[in-house]
Amino acid sequence: MNRFDGMAGTWEANPSRAERARVTADAIAARVPLQRTWSAIDVGSGTGLLSRMLADRVGRILLADTSQGMTEVAAQMIAASGDDQLSAVCLDVTTDTPPGAPFDLAVSLLMLHHVKDVEGFLESVLCHLEPGGYIAFADLAAEDGTFHEDPAEEVFHHGFEPDHLAAMATSAGFVGVSVEEVHQMVKKRSGQDTSYGLLLLTGRVPVTVTTP
Ligand SMILES: C[S@@+](CC[C@H](N)C(=O)[O-])C[C@H]1O[C@@H](n2cnc3c(N)ncnc32)[C@H](O)[C@@H]1O
Repeated sequence: MNRFDGMAGTWEANPSRAERARVTADAIAARVPLQRTWSAIDVGSGTGLLSRMLADRVGRILLADTSQGMTEVAAQMIAASGDDQLSAVCLDVTTDTPPGAPFDLAVSLLMLHHVKDVEGFLESVLCHLEPGGYIAFADLAAEDGTFHEDPAEEVFHHGFEPDHLAAMATSAGFVGVSVEEVHQMVKKRSGQDTSYGLLLLTGRVPVTVTTP
């Protein structure tokens, strides 16, 4: 069982998750020239919060997650809404080709820090994008390890330094890479409000492939 399966049913009970998805969608729209004709993939989509916030700004969106539980909840929500623009699939983009690839855009929210080999992961994402396609990945800024309270959660990175995240995306093959802080997430820790930064990584697939 995937560690996120058991969290899927109550994931959206915490309203701060919808709020950060809304802020992230607006930050993406301010930096990427989204078009209604575009196809997109939301990697580590969870129940689909970010995709639903972006749905009226792009075309088809594939929600992809390695958690069967998250994918089932996402699929139930899509079915209940009757929205055939969204679809959900349980897969790993590092080993599987997502249906509908290549995409014009890949987005994600708070998934990258759960990935051990971030650069390798970004290389896989690039392979599923059109030449000139965009990534817009939001993730945690470097923190002291208190963001996750549950020790059972598999966390490979306590956030990222902006320059390091940008360097990994550039090494993976993206161009025009930028990393900006777009939000502050506030959690109660030891009785105190504690802020954690949310970074947005953007970049593009090169339009032309250079051969040696
Ligand atoms: C913190 S949750 C975020 C979910 C959603 N993006 C949101 O903001 O509500 C991280 C999600 O990433 C998924 N995930 C973790 N590693 C993954 C991987 N290698 N490929 C795809 N999804 C992954 C988990 O299953 C989980 O649903």
